[in-house]
Amino acid sequence: MKTFIKNFPMNEETPEKILVRKDNKNSLELKVIKMRIEDFIKNEESLAIIKRTEEFAKNFFEREGTHGWSHVERVLALCMHIGREENADLEVLALAALLHDIARPLEDKGKVEDHAIESAKIARRFLKSLGYEKVDDVVHAIEAHRFNGSIKPQTLEAKIVSDADKLDAIGAIGVARVFMYGGEHGRDIETSLKHFEEKILKLKDLMHTETAKKMALERHRYVEEFVKRIRREIEGEI
Ligand SMILES: [Fe+2]
Repeated sequence: MKTFIKNFPMNEETPEKILVRKDNKNSLELKVIKMRIEDFIKNEESLAIIKRTEEFAKNFFEREGTHGWSHVERVLALCMHIGREENADLEVLALAALLHDIARPLEDKGKVEDHAIESAKIARRFLKSLGYEKVDDVVHAIEAHRFNGSIKPQTLEAKIVSDADKLDAIGAIGVARVFMYGGEHGRDIETSLKHFEEKILKLKDLMHTETAKKMALERHRYVEEFVKRIRREIEGEI
């Protein structure tokens, strides 16, 4: 695997240091809780390319946080569950999920403007270097996943990646991530609560697939309940 990463064509758009993993953990196991990629994808060739992609993508994430590697794993799990229900191409979905945020750390550092576009560019070079056939499908799903992006999802797989990414911002995990983001940016609780009203509670209306719409509604209700409850606690009522 190390050899493979060394062979990946580098240029100025992919800072080499990002690809050097500091802790040297090279486990190929997907650590998504209770979810194994093999339960969704049986084809050995598909599994091999997914595992190589996982290893490649992991290297871009130097630290955890709201958009760390664990977010990628959750998006992958959501994509598998939604994709199975919607009869989507699970191989394309898995690759797009693993690669969708690889340029996010670069955007956070101010090195690139749009992580979706940049992730798509890096993904294209990487998948081409593997001789992968459905590069365009994966790339489109990556470039169209962004909340405020100019490229809208046209394919079922792109719609599912977009849905999965947004679902990870709602529900109990959404609540956890809002306050994690608040901590990362020195925000107070009130500012985080405004973020629920301005963004999080609107996400359920942005889902594309029927499966995600149902999941979003369930997660949305939980967030609504949480916001009501915390408001009452802040007011000293309970
Ligand atoms: Fe994401």
